[in-house]
Amino acid sequence: MSRRTCLAIVLAAGDGTRMLSNLPKVLHVIAGRSLLAHVLTAVGRLRKTRIVVVTAPKQDSVSKETHRIVPSAQLFVQRERRGTAHAVLIARAALKRRVDDVLVVFGDTPLIRVELLDQLRDAIANGAAVAVLGFRPLDPTGYGRLVTQGGELLAVREEKEATETERRIALCNGGLMAFSGKTALSIIDQIGNANQKREYYLTEAVAVARRMGLKTAVIEADEDDVRGINTKAQLAQAEAVMQRRLRASALNAGVTLVAPETVFLSADTKFGRDVVVEPNVVIGPAVSIADSALIRSFSHLEGARVGKGARVGPYARLRPGADLEQDVHIGNFVEVKAAKIQKGAKANHLTYIGDARVGVGANVGAGTITCNYDGLAKHRTDIGHRAFIGSNTALVAPVKVGDGAYIGSGSVITRNVPPGSLSLERSPQIIKKGWAKSLRRVKPAGKQTKSARKKRR
Ligand code: UD1
Ligand code: MG
Repeated sequence: MSRRTCLAIVLAAGDGTRMLSNLPKVLHVIAGRSLLAHVLTAVGRLRKTRIVVVTAPKQDSVSKETHRIVPSAQLFVQRERRGTAHAVLIARAALKRRVDDVLVVFGDTPLIRVELLDQLRDAIANGAAVAVLGFRPLDPTGYGRLVTQGGELLAVREEKEATETERRIALCNGGLMAFSGKTALSIIDQIGNANQKREYYLTEAVAVARRMGLKTAVIEADEDDVRGINTKAQLAQAEAVMQRRLRASALNAGVTLVAPETVFLSADTKFGRDVVVEPNVVIGPAVSIADSALIRSFSHLEGARVGKGARVGPYARLRPGADLEQDVHIGNFVEVKAAKIQKGAKANHLTYIGDARVGVGANVGAGTITCNYDGLAKHRTDIGHRAFIGSNTALVAPVKVGDGAYIGSGSVITRNVPPGSLSLERSPQIIKKGWAKSLRRVKPAGKQTKSARKKRR
């Protein structure tokens, strides 16, 4: 990795207009993480690098997301959206400081890898004043075209400004650029806005550098590393690329994905050894799955920890704060939220466990509900070690079931149950001997005639 100092400017101003969305573009999500977070994570891997982010006014959500990923990042606000070069110059104060390399990265290009950033910086170290990341997209619509001659990069032409011939150029601008710290500001300061959109295009930097007699360079990348996202369709394409990458890295780490193309992962999913994931599973952000755990089909997990050897699903839902210790079983149609399920405990069928603890080896019967919400606030349920909760029990929180206690099926439990005791809450069962027989004598099953009905009336 480079020993040179670097300033990375991440451009993230703009709303969701082109995405037909109320959400700022860079906060759209792929693989459980915002576009901006993907970009900042890649940039954050560079050493000796100061990171600045340019945002639009009143976008607290973008600032928050920036600081969540890179607490030390410096924010600049671009009051008016006047183009990518204008956005870079908003960070003028940062650009004035001496650095070896200046990187400009777009917040809407989430697939970039740190290796590419390094390659661009190498081009600067080797004497270029401006280095551009090029690629050959299947569909070049919307991208700037790289005008070259004898391998030399002469200019970048935005699609709107390009001639018919230029539009046929296959090599496009991936949007990532590197500048030599010595000349960056003087080049970008010379960029004008004499174009159809009256915008200051950063891409003009190439032509300006050439006019100044400086060297330019192109590094070619794979389309999948530089896809820019301007539309919902491009968002879906980037998601597909990211999922392919994440599945490949899970498989390479020894995870068994029975049908990889049906499993959706997040950028931060963590797997232990010998984990098996059956087909059709969705894993949202902040999930870790420990050694030898089995995630069965049609389960949905987010913000959850799955302990060693635990079994989840089929058709289970683990919501944020679900914490499953070793050998826990969570079965079909069971939902767990903000609950610690301790070692070896089981809830195998049709159950909701929220804001709770379930003790070591406890058994939670089918149809058990922790009634955690009274319409105003959430309350906790605490189930002791080796407790047995009979089927169809409602545990009305706040409530405690002591260690080893036993709850009879169908109970609505509203008071604490002492350890080792039995609690049940049910109407007494009535038995009327011979009652059914005598009913059938009066009214043979399914054979009541019209006249019989009339008579009864
Ligand atoms: C840009 C490039 C194009 C390249 C493509 C790659 C320019 C002029 N064009 O086009 O050559 O092929 O990316 O994906 O650079 N932004 C600001 N302030 C602004 C304008 C943009 O912060 O005033 C930010 C946006 O939030 C976005 C990024 O800069 O993250 C790029 O802007 P966008 O409008 O997406 O440019 P493209 O049309 O995609
Ligand atoms: Mg774009």
